[in-house]
Amino acid sequence: MRLSTLLLPLLSLLTPSLSEILENGQPRLVPYPGGATKLSQPLDTSEWRTYPASAREISYKGRWDDKYISWWSAPGVKFGFRGGNVAVGFGEETSEGVLVAYRVGGQQWRFANVTASATYQFITPETPGMDLLEANATRIFEMRVTNWSYGVQISSVSVDCKASGGALVQLRNKRKMVEIIGDSISAGMYNSYEGLSGWAWGFVEGLGDAEFSITAYPGICLHDQDCWGNPRGQTYQWQRVSDTSWRASQLYGTNPPKWNFKKQQPADLVVINIGTNDFNEANGVTTKQYFESYVKLIGDIHRVWPKAQIIIQSLWHGFHGEGDTFVQDHGFDDEIRRVVNKFRFVHLFNTTGILRHNDIAPQWHPTDVGQIKVASHLLEFVKAKFGWEYGQGDNGGAEVFPQTLYWNDEQNY
Ligand SMILES: *[C@@H]1O[C@H](CO)[C@@H](O)[C@H](O)[C@H]1NC(C)=O
Ligand SMILES: *[C@@H]1O[C@H](CO)[C@@H](O)[C@H](O)[C@H]1NC(C)=O
Ligand SMILES: *[C@@H]1O[C@H](CO)[C@@H](O)[C@H](O)[C@H]1NC(C)=O
Ligand SMILES: *[C@@H]1O[C@H](CO)[C@@H](O)[C@H](O)[C@H]1NC(C)=O
Repeated sequence: MRLSTLLLPLLSLLTPSLSEILENGQPRLVPYPGGATKLSQPLDTSEWRTYPASAREISYKGRWDDKYISWWSAPGVKFGFRGGNVAVGFGEETSEGVLVAYRVGGQQWRFANVTASATYQFITPETPGMDLLEANATRIFEMRVTNWSYGVQISSVSVDCKASGGALVQLRNKRKMVEIIGDSISAGMYNSYEGLSGWAWGFVEGLGDAEFSITAYPGICLHDQDCWGNPRGQTYQWQRVSDTSWRASQLYGTNPPKWNFKKQQPADLVVINIGTNDFNEANGVTTKQYFESYVKLIGDIHRVWPKAQIIIQSLWHGFHGEGDTFVQDHGFDDEIRRVVNKFRFVHLFNTTGILRHNDIAPQWHPTDVGQIKVASHLLEFVKAKFGWEYGQGDNGGAEVFPQTLYWNDEQNY
C-alpha cells in the first residue's frame, strides 16, 4: 500500500489540539496551519529509509550540541529529499509539545507540535506545494524551532524508499552568513510565532542568500551577571553552545560547553541589539560596565571572525507621552556611540523613528508589525551600506513572516 493512502485517515485523528493566537484580542482563525502525524515505531523498513542525525545530508542551522540538541532562537535543520514522504525522529531531550515550523521549498510555513522520543511525518504527497514539481524532483525541507526556551533533539530523518530514488540530498550552504546577538526583542518574545516573528528572522530571511544563527535569549544582559534569572550575560554566554534556559542548566549545570565556532560558516555580518535588560534598574548595570562589556564582546567577535562587519542597533525602550504626542525613550546612547567610534568595522543602526508608540505591545515588546518595520529598515540599511541584495528566491528568499497575509476585502465602506 502506498504510504500516502495509509496515512491519510490518521492525519485528521492525530492533528494536535492547538492553542490560540489572539490578534487585537480576537482569536486568529487558523493560528497553526499544518500538523504532523505521529508514527508508530519502529518504522517499517520496507517503506522507509532512515538516516541517523549525523548524516552529512542533514544541515544544522544555528547552534546544536554534539547530541543534536538545539539551542537559542530559531535553530533548524535543512536538507534536500527525493520522494513524497518525510518523517523526523525526535530524541528524549526534545521539549514536550514544542512547536516547530516547517516548509517545503519556498511554500508557506506550517506548524506542528511534537513530543520527545517520537517520530513525526511532516510531509506526504498531499502536503501543499508537493504537487508543484515533478514527482522525482529534489525538494527542500526545512524545520525551525519557534520558542527560544524549548528545543528539539534530532534522532533520525526518514524518507520513503519506494519512491523512485527516494533519498536525502545534501544542499549547498548559502553564500553569506549572518550572526544575530540579542535578547527577547531579537528572539521574538510575545510575537505570534516567537522566533519566526522577530526582526532578526525577517532580516535574515529577507537577505535570501544568507545562512544565519540567532544567539538571542529573553532577559539576558550584555554584562556578565544575573539578569532576570539568566545566570550569565552575553559576554560569556555567546561563546557557549547553549543559552541560559532552564533546560540548559538541567543538562549542563553551570558549565555549558564552549561553542566550536568552526562548526558554522564564518559570519560576514554580525548584528547586535543588546542592553535593554542592562538598562533596567532592576539589574543595576552601570554605564561603565555596559561600555566595557560591549568593547569586550566586539573584541571577542573580531577575534573569531576578523573579516566580519558588525552593526550595533540603538536601544528602544518604549515611548512616553510628551504634551499631546509620544517620544521614544533611549538607553546607553553615549556608550553605544563610543563603542561604534572605537572600531572601524562597527556601524550604528539608529532605530530612532522607525517605531511608533503603537508598535510596542502591552507586554513591552514590539508588535509583529513593529518587528517587521525594524527588519525592513535594517535590510535597506545593509543594502545601502554593504551592497547586499534582497532575497531573490533560492529557497523562498524575501522577507516572509508566517501568517501575515492581512487584507481588506471591502470596496465600499
Ligand atoms: C503544544 O503542546 C503543548 C503541550 O501539550 C500545549 O501546551 C501547547 O498549547 C501546544 N501548542 C500548540 C500551538 O498547539
Ligand atoms: C523525472 O521524471 C521525468 C518524467 O516524469 C523524466 O523526464 C526525468 O528524466 C526524470 N528525472 C530524473 C532526475 O530522474
Ligand atoms: C515559550 O517559552 C516560554 C518559557 O518557557 C513559555 O512561557 C511560553 O509559553 C512558550 N511559548 C509558547 C508559544 O509555547
Ligand atoms: C539616534 O538618533 C536619535 C535622534 O537623532 C538621537 O537622539 C540618539 O542619540 C541616536 N542614538 C545614538 C546611539 O547615537
